[in-house]
Amino acid sequence: MDQSTFNRVDQYYVDLFALNDEIMQKIKENCEKAGLPAISISPPLGMMLQILARSIKARRILEIGTLGGYSGTWLARALPADGRLVTLEFEKKHAEVAKKNFALSGFENKVQIINDDAAAAMQTLIDQGSEKFDMIFLDADKQNYVNYLRLGLQLSRPGTLIVADNVVRKGEVANPECQDESVRGIQRFLKELADNKAVQTTALQTTGSKGYDGFSVSLVL
Ligand code: SAH
Ligand code: DHB
Ligand code: MG
Repeated sequence: MDQSTFNRVDQYYVDLFALNDEIMQKIKENCEKAGLPAISISPPLGMMLQILARSIKARRILEIGTLGGYSGTWLARALPADGRLVTLEFEKKHAEVAKKNFALSGFENKVQIINDDAAAAMQTLIDQGSEKFDMIFLDADKQNYVNYLRLGLQLSRPGTLIVADNVVRKGEVANPECQDESVRGIQRFLKELADNKAVQTTALQTTGSKGYDGFSVSLVL
């Protein structure tokens, strides 16, 4: 099996389940035009996140790593009328593209983009006594996932769902000799989750338009 098969099957799901409506298409286009890296989540994973958020009736969602607001739009679509997505992004240009995209999708009032380093923004939320989040989606720099987990747990309550993207990295996650800092960051993150008895965790490998990678899902007990 190769990338062209993965692409063909993802396209089949996208067509079958109508995962690429006009707004989602336009958001991807805006990201491309602005020269953002093509690393937004895939449409099937977007719908997976949306279904998870809806099934737990998430009212407050925290996203670490906004990029152009593509995954954020999938998440925002799951929110009830009084729901809120807080999304963290340190690149000004990415935050600006995301702001336009959230306006395009009609979520200006439900989405707060914080244009700062994610760890700093999370510490500020903690210090301000922020209301806890129902769901947290980690998708920024992998080296810092373990910090985002520690901070994220302080913004969680029993029942909070923590989903992390890119935990497989073409299989390198299972290579203890791997020297890549992103992979090592993922390994530290997963080990910390495994050792934390207050959290139940699994991880799934995926193939698709983004190649061979995967995501973890944790439930705060
Ligand atoms: N979730 C997005 C993709 C995120 S890509 C989507 O699927 O649509 C990762 C993003 O994290 C990039 O935009 C990058 O600028 C941002 N990022 C990386 N390190 C960061 C940090 N320390 N603080 C905040 N954002 C960071
Ligand atoms: C990269 C980051 C991501 O969040 C992703 O989904 C794919 C790739 C990267 O930095 O290479
Ligand atoms: Mg990712």
